[in-house]
Amino acid sequence: MSTPSPTVGGGTTAPPANTGGPTGAPTGAPTGAPTTTAATGGGIKADDIPVGGGTIFKDQNFVITQPTAGIFMAFDATCQHMGCQVTNVRAGKINCLCHGSQYNIADGSVARGPSQGPLPAKKVTVFGDTLTVA
Ligand code: FES
Repeated sequence: MSTPSPTVGGGTTAPPANTGGPTGAPTGAPTGAPTTTAATGGGIKADDIPVGGGTIFKDQNFVITQPTAGIFMAFDATCQHMGCQVTNVRAGKINCLCHGSQYNIADGSVARGPSQGPLPAKKVTVFGDTLTVA
């Protein structure tokens, strides 16, 4: 397929004259209504959960992990050693820095003590790109 070539050798085409105009007019009238998320039960964006990692939701006291792309797991964020809230998720492990326990992101099992028991699993529901934990 060949396309007709444009004029060659001209080189002086004027840019559209749409720059420099006043831009003071606000767009959209304020409505005062706060934006709300449509999800019920506290929707969480799936995009917020890193693949091979996880995110701790401190207020709700759970952690959501995504060990494999598209596979989401959720666990209670209370360390089973002495009850600290787990601290972070790094390198495939959920870490409690109180005494160094580590849990596997795939199933909440103990990867390193002193914790003796796994993080209790919670139910994750995936709806589109939104996650709900119960
Ligand atoms: S409370 Fe988590 S390691 Fe001790």
